Amino acid sequence: MSGILILGAGGHGKVIADILLSSQQPVIGFLDDEPSLWGNQVLGLPVLGAMQDFERYQPAGLVAAIGNNAARDALVRKLGDAAQQLWVRAQHPAAIVALSAQVGHGTVLMAGAVVNPDAVIGDHVIVNTGATIDHDCRIEDFAHVAPGAHLAGGVVVGARTLIGVGASVIPYQTIGQDVIIGAGATVVRTVPDAVTAKGTPARW
Ligand SMILES: CC(C)(COP(=O)(O)OP(=O)(O)OC[C@H]1O[C@@H](n2cnc3c(N)ncnc32)[C@H](O)[C@@H]1OP(=O)(O)O)[C@@H](O)C(=O)NCCC(=O)NCCS
Repeated sequence: MSGILILGAGGHGKVIADILLSSQQPVIGFLDDEPSLWGNQVLGLPVLGAMQDFERYQPAGLVAAIGNNAARDALVRKLGDAAQQLWVRAQHPAAIVALSAQVGHGTVLMAGAVVNPDAVIGDHVIVNTGATIDHDCRIEDFAHVAPGAHLAGGVVVGARTLIGVGASVIPYQTIGQDVIIGAGATVVRTVPDAVTAKGTPARW
């Protein structure tokens, strides 16, 4: 039976498996580069072998299940053209995505996530449990909006940036790439690239 392979058998991979199974998508199992996990089961699904050997299993689709944004980016680059057509979206049935929103390939939308009209979400983004992305936001590739984080309308989030658990961003702010916004932070102005910003108001 063909199905989707989940690349990464950790906690994030487990949630993605649940999303795929909840949305009636067949899952072959996991690949992980930690050999001690091979032969284990996660949610009753096998951990089969190393990620670079994905073609051996002839998957119908792939999801990169690595929570660290830079590491997820590196994995997708490493697998290159051979994987390019296989990346699929994992969207929980309880995620709400507006008809006019755009969502890229390989992106994960968890339970309770809300994406409002004309938001544009790139490739391999994580919109985690209960996170909300309001109208006209733009979320670039490999970003992660963590559980319970809220982006007001028109916010831009740069590539590989993490918006931490429960953080909030007021309307029409731009957050650079490779940024970490700390848990619970309130972002009230533009944030440059590659800083860690935390607190209310967020400072770096
Ligand atoms: C902001 C953050 C990146 C800082 O990590 P760090 O550099 O390892 O910082 P430390 O834990 O060494 O703490 C340094 C100081 O910042 C404070 N601090 C840490 N996180 C903070 C936060 N989110 N808000 C306010 N202050 C924070 C600490 O209390 C400490 O203060 P002190 O020097 O007065 O004792 C991290 O704490 C955080 O919030 N990460 C987000 C995690 C997340 O949401 N992941 C998503 C998982 S799905």
